[in-house]
Amino acid sequence: MEPARLSISDHDVEFPVTVGSENEVGFDIRKLRGTTGAITVDPGFANTGSCKSGITFIDGENGILRYRGYAIEDLANHSSFLDVAYLLIYGNLPTRVELDDFHGEMTRHSLIHEDMKKFFEGYPPNAPPMSVLSTIVSSLSAFYPGTENGEDIDLNIRRLLAKLNTIAAFAFKKSIGQPYIYPRNNLGYAEDFLHMMFAVPSEDYEPHPLLVKTLDMLLILHADHEQNCSTSTVRMVGSSGADLFSSISAGISALSGPLHGGANTAVIEMLEMIRQDGGGFKKYVDKAKDKSDPFRLMGFGHRVYKNFDPRARVIKQIADEVLGELGIDDPLLDLAKELENIALEDEYFISRGLYPNVDFYSGILYRAMGIPTNMFTVMFALGRLPGWIAQWLEMKTDSDTRIYRPRQIYTGNNHREYVQIGRRCL
Ligand code: CMC
Repeated sequence: MEPARLSISDHDVEFPVTVGSENEVGFDIRKLRGTTGAITVDPGFANTGSCKSGITFIDGENGILRYRGYAIEDLANHSSFLDVAYLLIYGNLPTRVELDDFHGEMTRHSLIHEDMKKFFEGYPPNAPPMSVLSTIVSSLSAFYPGTENGEDIDLNIRRLLAKLNTIAAFAFKKSIGQPYIYPRNNLGYAEDFLHMMFAVPSEDYEPHPLLVKTLDMLLILHADHEQNCSTSTVRMVGSSGADLFSSISAGISALSGPLHGGANTAVIEMLEMIRQDGGGFKKYVDKAKDKSDPFRLMGFGHRVYKNFDPRARVIKQIADEVLGELGIDDPLLDLAKELENIALEDEYFISRGLYPNVDFYSGILYRAMGIPTNMFTVMFALGRLPGWIAQWLEMKTDSDTRIYRPRQIYTGNNHREYVQIGRRCL
């Protein structure tokens, strides 16, 4: 393809064009500042490719999402979360032997160091579980420092995948003041999580197979989403040479915000608010459209998807099936569907390409599983972990990687003479 050309002041510059395997086009501006002295300005990096990546492909116009070439719908319907985690991290689906070994490692590493339980004791009972998750993950680097050696990194990757399940469930048990339930090696990943969440020492607990399957599917649907806010954070922190646990901990913090992973909690809070207010949507649709009102329809809109979010389609369908099969009548599901119908017919939402995103229906499913609202974003983090790990690894092994260090256009004061007012206290 012909190079891109730019004229700025008296410079005519050519930039090589780079084309991806799905024909996405970018022009490589690495030489821009050196040759012209200018930089690009792109708030929110909406037009900036921060890396080349072979992990996840999204076509936002056509609602396509693929991990390593496999359609999200196929993976969600036919695969397992551990299969998908392996696929994202190592590039291919595991063989039976590889999967058995991977699962064995997940069970072998699922305990956390007994000393780490003391950390949980220090938090107040109402501590947000995302803060607990982020700080406990960060502290893993004190227990498992490792080296930059590939084998050490791989061991820490497997440790982290195995332990996040346990850390998340312990954070929940801490928040409700119940004893921690230890992982069980004979259970699958999703099943073990539900067991650690809901078992109590005095009773037997068997997670409902439909809930296990649904949770596994939800984790798959969240497993990666290319260069979103939390993933870019993981790559950015890692680009300084920070270790895996510190980088992922930063990603968890980025995910917690209501515009990102925190939206699944915000959706349920919004639907509850509408229900308590008598169920009238118009007022809230109008508020969302009013530019002087900060209110937004949570669970609507996406930076990349402008027609539909394929994950939301799968989740909406599962929500109907699961609630039907379990005989759960959740008024919030009906409210959500009505709100979606109203918004989808409204010119404001149509013209801006605002559709339900992954977070719109996922909370309804988490509620059906008995997972409390303050744990929803933790569930997102559990699902996203393999994606963060895969992206962190790719960043580390990419010869193009440099420390992330954007520029700025300075708009502050010009140089000012310092005038001393009296003598400062020392
Ligand atoms: N309700 C009302 N208006 C909206 C909404 C919404 N949910 N989302 C975007 N808009 C409007 C926005 O005001 C703007 O209007 P205008 O062009 O008149 O100024 C236009 O649509 C474009 O929005 P934007 O904020 O420039 O788009 P963005 O790409 O920067 O933000 C977003 C994407 C997801 C942060 C945003 O759509 C949003 O805040 N949605 C609600 C929060 C949410 O559901 N987040 C979860 C995202 S999916 C899970 C994940 O991957 O994190």
